[in-house]
Amino acid sequence: MKLFLDTAEYEEVKTAVEWGVIDGVTTNPTLIAKAGQDHETQVKKICALIGNVSAECVSEKRDNMIVEGRRIAAWHKNVIVKVPLTPDGLGAAKILAGEGIRINVTLCFSVNQALLAAAVGAYIISPFAGRLDDINEDGMRVVADIVSAYRQQEIQTKVLAASIRNPMHVTQAALAGADIGTMPFAVLRMLFNHPLTDAGQKRFLEDYRRARASGGSEADDGARAKPDERSEYRKTQEAKPAAPTTGKPVTPEAATKR
Ligand code: E4P
Repeated sequence: MKLFLDTAEYEEVKTAVEWGVIDGVTTNPTLIAKAGQDHETQVKKICALIGNVSAECVSEKRDNMIVEGRRIAAWHKNVIVKVPLTPDGLGAAKILAGEGIRINVTLCFSVNQALLAAAVGAYIISPFAGRLDDINEDGMRVVADIVSAYRQQEIQTKVLAASIRNPMHVTQAALAGADIGTMPFAVLRMLFNHPLTDAGQKRFLEDYRRARASGGSEADDGARAKPDERSEYRKTQEAKPAAPTTGKPVTPEAATKR
């Protein structure tokens, strides 16, 4: 299952891209409003960081949505145009998909709705698990049922588990066979967490430092770069002429601050 970030916050996307774990981003009008930036500007900025960025139409009528969808698709090659699972939305999706534009059909809550989206050639269907849980229905069951129906019918549309609210949802979506899971930044961060990882890492570093403190050990050889292994950054820094001195004496405090 690919991991997507459900956000319109540039810094969150940048951090997750640096972690190397995400393959795309989903936005929606609420998230864009929260980010407080112009829709086009924000989507283009995010597209410069990563592929597979869903940007949602806000028109309601089919013909307007077709025009808007074409406009959004032209913003960047990484854009996936999002339309709601309404008769107008799917009517627009059919035309846009026919023009080769990747479509994410959003606000899906049932297997039958997912079949409708597949019928118009959607690239992605987004069942909202968390919002089903909110009304006392089993959101992940619906995700699993859509995956199963698509596999049986040999439908190529990708299933994107959306409205993920916690790490358990992520595990359940993966076990249900979803192609993609999109989640808020806070949930993505939580996926790293395990007390044994923290304890193990702490212990490794303590052992290593203790060995070094006791007069050098084989461990030192692994950690210290040999002269020819200096990073490119260090080589550039060392090649720079020394900074002009201020004439003031360098105190130990100032030296350690650097
Ligand atoms: C997905 O594309 C949606 O933006 C999102 O998952 C909605 O999640 P929410 O129900 O937590 O708002």
